[in-house]
Order: sequence, then structure tokens, then C-alpha cells
Amino acid sequence: MKRPNLIVALVASTSLMAACRGNKSAEPPVHPVLNMDFQQYYRPAERNDWFPDRRAARPLPAGTVARVASRTNFTARAEAPSAPESRATDSAFYSGRGPDGRLVDGLPASVPLTDALLERGEARYAIYCAPCHEKSGYGQGIVVQRGLKVPPPSFHDPRLQAMPLGYFFDVITNGKNTMKPYASQIPHDDRWAIAAWLRVLQVSQRATAADVPESERTKIDRGAP
Ligand code: HEC
Repeated sequence: MKRPNLIVALVASTSLMAACRGNKSAEPPVHPVLNMDFQQYYRPAERNDWFPDRRAARPLPAGTVARVASRTNFTARAEAPSAPESRATDSAFYSGRGPDGRLVDGLPASVPLTDALLERGEARYAIYCAPCHEKSGYGQGIVVQRGLKVPPPSFHDPRLQAMPLGYFFDVITNGKNTMKPYASQIPHDDRWAIAAWLRVLQVSQRATAADVPESERTKIDRGAP
């Protein structure tokens, strides 16, 4: 090829490319390197004759534990095989919210208030929360003493005392500002147990001798634990 022809070809090709840039087109974009951009796959409700039940989406194995905390329906369905009936339909248990979308102020129907629940809550609180929030809930845990820049608020602060129980479940599940979410580490039952224990801590700091049942009061007077 002679030199003038080469120059003409170069100018023509660069101006062609320049002309294409930014132009709108109804055609699909040129996709010279395919990588793995186009693959065969099944959409969720699609048919697949390979399986006897003809469903492409396979049912969840029994005992599957959901990792998606905020999507109530998904969670309820995944845990349904092993969970009691009332729990599968107890949306407050999974979300901390009632049917109206507001945070519930009490334990969900499928979580009875028992001594065992509070003991569990106390133990889980000591593991997951006390390092920052302190066993008493005042917020001077060991992590704070060693220099956590934004210390947690005291649970005995009037704003937090007034919060509905579902709020504590929600903060554990989703985190709050600099506090990270614990949904992946703490199962729903334990989140409620911790929330209940948190309420116990709050009440304990405002309680008077009159709140103690008569039968127990004599023990306190005697100085027994
Ligand atoms: C690593 C430290 C740390 C741990 C562990 C921790 N928190 Fe927190 N928490 C914080 C900090 C910091 C804040 C304040 C966040 C902010 O508002 O910036 C906070 C805030 C809160 C609040 C108050 C939210 C508000 O409205 O002000 C609640 C309730 C709470 N945490 C509950 C818990 C519970 C329950 C646990 C245990 C499951 C827990 N936290 C574990 C650091 C921690």
C-alpha cells in the first residue's frame, strides 16, 4: 500500500469511530468480547422437565436457615419446616413490626415471657452487647474504656427508656449509625431474648422496693442474693 492511501484510510477510520461515539441507536451495542455475558439460565417460575415436579427452582432443603433478615416472607418460608405454625405466620417475630408496619411494644405472640428467656437474654447480652454497652447498660463497656471514639448511649436515658421493645430488636437486626447489624450472628429468638433483657436492665434502674413481690422482699431485707 502506498503512503497517501494509508493516510486516507487512517483519517477515514478515525473519523468514522469519532462519528459513532455518543450517537443514539435503536440497535443493540456491538459486543465483540463476549466473556460470559450471555448464558443460559432458568428464571424462578420456569418449567424444567429434567426434574419430576417440572420446577426449575428447587425447594429449600428442610432446616435451611435464612440469611436475609429484613425480608419477612422469605425468612418465614425458609424456616417453616422446623418452626411451629404460629411462628411461621408471626411476622412480628421476624421483623419487630406489626401488620401496620409499626414497631411492636412487647414480645411477639410466639415468644412467651419466661425465666428461661430472660436467662438466655442475659447470657447473650453479656457476649454480644456488654463489651460496648456495659453489663449494666450505662454504655461504659471495656471497648469504650479502651477508646471507642463514638460511645454508645446509656439504655437508661429517657429517650431509650421510652422506646418500644421492637426498637431494640430492630437495632440488633439492622444496626444503628456506627453500630453494626447483628442479624447474621444472632438468631431471631436470641434477639428477642436480648431485647427483653435490655428492658429488664432499664426497669431495674428505676425499680423501688414496692415493685418487689412481698414474698421476695423479706429475702432482700435479709441481704440474700
Ligand atoms: C462494638 C460496640 C457495640 C456493640 C458490641 C453493641 N453496640 Fe449497640 N451501640 C454501639 C454504639 C457506638 C451505639 C451508638 C451508635 C450511634 O448512634 O452512633 C450503639 C447504639 C445502640 C442502641 C441505641 C440506638 C439509639 O437509638 O440511640 C441500642 C438499643 C443498642 N446499641 C443495642 C445493642 C445491643 C442489644 C447489642 C448486642 C446485641 C449491641 N448494641 C452491641 C456500639 C455497640
